[in-house]
Amino acid sequence: MIVRENYPLKNLNTFHIDALAKYFVEVASNEEILEVLDESKFASDAKLILGGGSNLLFTKDYPGLVIKNNLKGISLEKETEEFYFVKAGAGEIWHDVVMHCIDNNYAGLENLSLIPGNAGASPMQNIGAYGAEVKDSFFELEALHINEKTLRRFTNEECKFGYRESVFKHEFKNQYIITSVTFKLNKKPKFNISYGAIEKELEQMGIKDLSIRAISNAVCAIRNSKLPNPAVIGNAGSFFKNPEITESVFKNLKNEFAGIVGYELENGNVKLAAGWLIEQCGWKGKSFGDAGVHKLQALVLVNYANAKGSEIFDLSQKIMDSVKAKFGVGLEREVNII
Ligand code: FAD
Ligand code: EPU
Repeated sequence: MIVRENYPLKNLNTFHIDALAKYFVEVASNEEILEVLDESKFASDAKLILGGGSNLLFTKDYPGLVIKNNLKGISLEKETEEFYFVKAGAGEIWHDVVMHCIDNNYAGLENLSLIPGNAGASPMQNIGAYGAEVKDSFFELEALHINEKTLRRFTNEECKFGYRESVFKHEFKNQYIITSVTFKLNKKPKFNISYGAIEKELEQMGIKDLSIRAISNAVCAIRNSKLPNPAVIGNAGSFFKNPEITESVFKNLKNEFAGIVGYELENGNVKLAAGWLIEQCGWKGKSFGDAGVHKLQALVLVNYANAKGSEIFDLSQKIMDSVKAKFGVGLEREVNII
């Protein structure tokens, strides 16, 4: 085990925040994780599990141990008449898992193409995009309890998935290291092109025979046209969640703001497009030093070069305050603040 001290994290988070970890180790197996957890030197240190660093914001140096999860491997565990069960090590790059599935005709993850980060983080916030969420294809995960050092399996139900939510952001926050995730994928694809933009893109691409690869290509094209590439501009995707409000609150807002964008949910509530709210408050394209709001997507906060995490955090607070003042709607951060 190689332990590094005061280790720079700038290249390990997609916001490219220049923070240091007091201690830093990389692990590639359950045995290596246990070795780290058994090390008495770290007993009293806070621990942060790091995947691709694409959904967190360092607001200061990390005062404890950062454990970079590099557990690899993608394998077909079993198959039934209808399904393939595919297990991915937590340190596999998410898009590589999606591509592996597409190459082998395992259907279900194609709408989630090109989401940055690692497989192990995918259940953390139940990643979602273009009409799908990971919970739709999730079978189970394995995780090591940090204090008890025991391995536990979590079923889909036990993860308590919601919109950008799981049990690991609440009652089990900072308690488990996810080591692998198993997906239940369809042998017979159920194409999901309910999201309008996919249909339009497929049409533009001239696709006649629908396939999971065509859907993946369409999703990649849409994402590349809409979202800033973290390799070019530091960001962590949507900084806030889209807020859910009741239908009656929505009606009142609609009377006052005719252009407001909302989508009806199955439970009768309405999900508002936070990007629209933020844009209406005048934030889109604004920058303050190197911290800013992206010029094409107001839901994405960016680091143009050397912004501090605390500057991006302060900007997010100002945005939340102004949205609350104008619309009476509270925004919640999606990005994990460290
Ligand atoms: P990290 O940022 O490293 O970690 C995120 C959180 O999970 C942290 O709290 C960390 O401690 C914890 N964690 C990570 N791995 C483990 C583990 N193995 N065990 C326990 N805890 C762990 N998200 C979406 O849902 N939909 C999108 O469409 C989307 N688009 C994005 C676009 C861009 C350009 C970017 C930069 C981000 C986007 N995201 C999106 C957010 C991000 O890609 C996802 O949240 C992703 O799952 C984060 O993975 P990660 O490995 O980078 O996690
Ligand atoms: N909009 C604006 N101004 C903006 C941005 C958006 O008015 O600057 C309005 C537009 O009307 C647009 C609507 O908001 O039609 C929705 O925008 P978009 O389709 O870009 O989706 P989003 O709500 O901004 C969500 C997810 C993304 C996911 C996409 C596609 C959240 C918080 N974000 O974004 O996830 O990729 O839909 O499904 O749910 C992420 O979580 O990091 C993420 C990028």
